[in-house]
Amino acid sequence: PGHATQDTRGRELRDMRISVTDRCNFRCVYCMPKEIFGRDYVFLPKDQLLSFEEIVRVVQAGIAHGVHKVRLTGGEPLLRKGIEDLVRMLAELRTTEGTKPDIALTTNGSALAHLAPALKEAGLDRVTVSLDSLDDEVFRSMNDIDFPVQRVLDGIHAAADAGLRIKVNTVVKRGMNEGDIVDIAGHFKGTGVIVRFIEFMDVGTTNGWEMRDVVPSAEVLEKIAAVYPLQAVPPQYAAETAKRWQYVDGTGEVGVISSVTQPFCGACTRGRISADGKLFTCLFADHGHDLRGMLRDGCTDAELEGMIGRLWSVRDDHYSEIRGAATAALRTSSRIEMSYIGG
Ligand code: GTP
Ligand code: 5AD
Ligand code: SF4
Ligand code: SF4
Repeated sequence: PGHATQDTRGRELRDMRISVTDRCNFRCVYCMPKEIFGRDYVFLPKDQLLSFEEIVRVVQAGIAHGVHKVRLTGGEPLLRKGIEDLVRMLAELRTTEGTKPDIALTTNGSALAHLAPALKEAGLDRVTVSLDSLDDEVFRSMNDIDFPVQRVLDGIHAAADAGLRIKVNTVVKRGMNEGDIVDIAGHFKGTGVIVRFIEFMDVGTTNGWEMRDVVPSAEVLEKIAAVYPLQAVPPQYAAETAKRWQYVDGTGEVGVISSVTQPFCGACTRGRISADGKLFTCLFADHGHDLRGMLRDGCTDAELEGMIGRLWSVRDDHYSEIRGAATAALRTSSRIEMSYIGG
């Protein structure tokens, strides 16, 4: 098997997160606020998006450096036409150990009821559905397009029926949905769906992030454990974003993703490809390297591999560990948006 490429902090490139579109049908207040992503907002034109063939070439080059896990994100990846065809193409790739890469997709769930069977059939392993509240009124106000929560729950059911493994991501924002935490945990307890509560992060420059909006994971766990006793689970793999906890009564587990209060840069093995084909080595980077240009100039697979290897080997990113000092300066600058780079 080939040797994995390490960055300047000894971290390997194990995961590739690919944004397949910068568009989304939701306008979550913490991600694509309506005042900015309004009717006149200009999204990327189709010809600037990586084609499926180009995405496959990039993933293949990543595999040569150690990629084992591919996550499709957005925007909303299910808005990309023919997404199941991309999944099928990716499912044919093999890692350096000859195994099928783990293929996952992060979605708002709005089109999942319809697409889950085709995605599973194409070779998708897992879906992660964003769900911030079970309270219809709160949910509608958080997605800000009045989308009913029941349709997302229907999507989760369809994914389960199709045989996909499922996680739920809940971003917790102070004053918005902290009252829904125990409800969400209780709803999925015993169903096999793993809920992870995420600290609201200062990604991009448009979501108006302030430290006081962050509900620390310690507080989330306290609320849940007061109703459903919990015990810690050791991590499955080093780069895991979530700290895992299981219900003492054996009905499953929940996780917390504490990117603000307990950063996990030390084990960050994630590379990100934006919808227009730039490689970003951190969620908080202010620029990425244009791979699409190389591809469209007719580069060879070896040249693409060489570039990814060079970019990864000089990587020094650890933004979440130096947040604070860096935050004030960066928030006013050109930091990229999550809808563009992908969660
Ligand atoms: P698994 O493959 O199931 O372990 O998923 P994951 O936790 O790697 O990916 P997921 O998309 O579910 O990530 C959940 C959330 O964690 C994201 O939406 C982000 O909020 C946060 N997150 C993921 N990766 C990073 C990262 O590299 N840096 C930071 N700061 N946050 C991240
Ligand atoms: N902080 C934390 N998580 C966020 N997400 C989007 N914006 C933020 C933010 N500012 C999450 C979404 C979804 C994933 C793609 O990223 O809720 O679960
Ligand atoms: Fe869309 Fe996800 Fe952002 Fe919400 S968090 S606006 S669903 S990309
Ligand atoms: Fe990785 Fe950057 Fe997130 Fe740290 S802040 S975990 S380096 S993506």
